[in-house]
Amino acid sequence: MIDPVRARGHFPSLSRSQDGRPVLYFDNPAGTQVPQEMMDGFIHYLTNSSANVGGEFATSQETDRLIGEARAATADFLGADSPSEIVFGQNMTSLTFHFSHALARTLRPGDEIVTTRLEHDANVSPWLALVEQGIVVRWIDIHREDGTLDLETAEAAITGRTKLVAAGYASNVLGTINDVRCLGQMAHAAGALFFVDAVHYAPHGPIDVQEIECDLLVCSSYKFFGPHLGILYGRYEVLGSLPAYHVRPAGDEPPDKWETGTQSHESLAALVGTIGYLEGLSEDVGGGRRERLRCSMRNIKNYERTLSEHLIAGMRAIGGITIYGITTPEWLDRRVPTVSFLLKGVSPHDAAKSLGEQGIFSWAGNHYAIEPLRRLGIDATQRIGLVHYNTVEEIDRFLVALERIARA
Ligand SMILES: Cc1ncc(COP(=O)(O)O)c(C=O)c1O
Repeated sequence: MIDPVRARGHFPSLSRSQDGRPVLYFDNPAGTQVPQEMMDGFIHYLTNSSANVGGEFATSQETDRLIGEARAATADFLGADSPSEIVFGQNMTSLTFHFSHALARTLRPGDEIVTTRLEHDANVSPWLALVEQGIVVRWIDIHREDGTLDLETAEAAITGRTKLVAAGYASNVLGTINDVRCLGQMAHAAGALFFVDAVHYAPHGPIDVQEIECDLLVCSSYKFFGPHLGILYGRYEVLGSLPAYHVRPAGDEPPDKWETGTQSHESLAALVGTIGYLEGLSEDVGGGRRERLRCSMRNIKNYERTLSEHLIAGMRAIGGITIYGITTPEWLDRRVPTVSFLLKGVSPHDAAKSLGEQGIFSWAGNHYAIEPLRRLGIDATQRIGLVHYNTVEEIDRFLVALERIARA
């Protein structure tokens, strides 16, 4: 299990207070707070080693080594075979548009891409952008009552014409964890590539790209305690064979052919710091970095289940609250503690404002999850999302504040 008190000690921003009380960071799905190790990496790089790559002098060589280390650390975090399968970019959205346009150069009119109604729009719009060139986008639907994927519709949508199946690992609006392994097997049985949006899942549990049999996976380090930086994992043969848009000096080999221009080296240094922090949560575990990261993320997942239980039970007890997504206690390990809800008679924006005034940070809006909300017949929800530095005591304070708003 994670010791949240020990973990919190690594995050300086958690000591912020408002009107004499600690702030509650329940806005994590839009970006988490960062540990000291992340900031140390950032500052150390800019203080000591800032340079461009490929030079015959110390700071440039240190930068080359740093980029190699960032790829190796990320490969361990994701369970990739090789650091060459890790591509960095500005954020997940840019990397996914870049990828979809490269893939499109291999497609013909009538070829199909399958995505789901549970996605953040960054795993929808890059595929819809290809419709104008004759690509057909098909959909896997959701069960509206609990926000899980309807796998019968997946069987109908994935056919011999499917070239790529794109699915989220976890929903940023309903918290559902998808059975990505099963979807990967369905995609491969149809001869299609399998693309996973792991942005929302990454802070909540271990990712192993081999185990889930994905060809491509994207995530964003600012969602898992790191800097604003996007990550694309791709199987080496897939990254090698697709025609990425790149400048000629970048060469034709992954990962360089997928990276456009100069990277944010200081962010890569910060990412190494973040991964070091996560590894350190299991410092007593033997084996290498990969094993320790796996253990830390498993422990985070177990701890967060207790948060989900406490939070959802407490919210259900208040009454007058519609909670979207899985709420059945026995099924809580199929969700992360990201909870969308509506208070009867209170607009989500007003409720978020009232909580914000009390130092409890949450979101109201569509969360860029246009498709899921449309399927649920609503325009907006209020959303809170917890991570491993949140605590049961914080949930209790939130529940008291929420009940007060519900009763007002
Ligand atoms: C599930 C999911 N996918 C994709 C994105 C887009 O990520 P980025 O901001 O790195 O482009 C987000 C951002 O909120 C997200 O939650």
